[in-house]
Amino acid sequence: MMKHAFVTGGGGDIGAAIGARAIAAGYQVLLVDQDGARAKQQATQLKGAIGLACDVTDEASVESALDLAATNFGGAPDLVVNCAGIARFAPLMDQSLADFRRVLDVNLVSGFIVGRAAARRMAQRGSGCIVNITSINGVTPAPNSGAYPASKSGLAKLTELMAVEWGPLGLRVNAVAPGFIDAGLSAPFFANETVRSLREKAVPTRRLGRSEDIADAVIFLASDAASYINGHELIVDGGASRALLALLPREAPGS
Ligand SMILES: NC(=O)c1ccc[n+]([C@@H]2O[C@H](COP(=O)([O-])OP(=O)(O)OC[C@H]3O[C@@H](n4cnc5c(N)ncnc54)[C@H](O)[C@@H]3O)[C@@H](O)[C@H]2O)c1
Repeated sequence: MMKHAFVTGGGGDIGAAIGARAIAAGYQVLLVDQDGARAKQQATQLKGAIGLACDVTDEASVESALDLAATNFGGAPDLVVNCAGIARFAPLMDQSLADFRRVLDVNLVSGFIVGRAAARRMAQRGSGCIVNITSINGVTPAPNSGAYPASKSGLAKLTELMAVEWGPLGLRVNAVAPGFIDAGLSAPFFANETVRSLREKAVPTRRLGRSEDIADAVIFLASDAASYINGHELIVDGGASRALLALLPREAPGS
């Protein structure tokens, strides 16, 4: 039987790229998204993918999406990618409680809802892989990001706990932390040429990231080549989060 992958946020840019790479790696793919029309539209671009409306903050919606995956592809997913996410950026002093809670719900609590539901099914088979999409903003928080950094570092810690609890059941759970990706949530930000060029210069690899950079990392973590990697957060940012000392003002050489 073919392997199958369940990708949340699959209507979005990074989720769709993960779906495409998963198809290329031999998976059948279910792209789920709150925006069902977008998920279906992305799926039509991929041979072997189905798009479906699903709200990752809603247990019943997630269970019925996993049921549909089982009906169409057979059994539990081999790979689950938690890629659905939102950002409500604002200075903390200005952020509403409703926005703070919503970001935690979509970015962090969904990781529990989807991860637990999938893991219960995977554990019956004794194998499966989960990859949670975090962010370098959860590693080193950017000012005015509201609940976003806490939601992503929470998801990274949840990844570790899942790996510890579910490793003995045959599951591996890892995270991929994207840096400055020229797509999706960051697309409006990088539409500004000045911001774009400053950010490109701040990345040691001297370019913004692409959705495919993230998708490649996800497929690697899901592969047999990563069979001993469990509970790891793989930062995929061209070195941006390691560039602090490179970016600080320095005295001119010899002065
Ligand atoms: N683009 C970047 O620079 C960047 C950087 C770091 C991390 N990320 C993370 O990558 C992931 C994908 O983001 P993207 O840039 O492709 O953005 P995107 O907006 O293109 O994709 C996110 C998708 O999540 C979906 N979604 C939102 N709430 C949902 C819900 N309750 N249930 C189901 N789906 C829901 C949206 O409809 C959207 O299609 C997110 O988790 C984001 O935090 C992105």
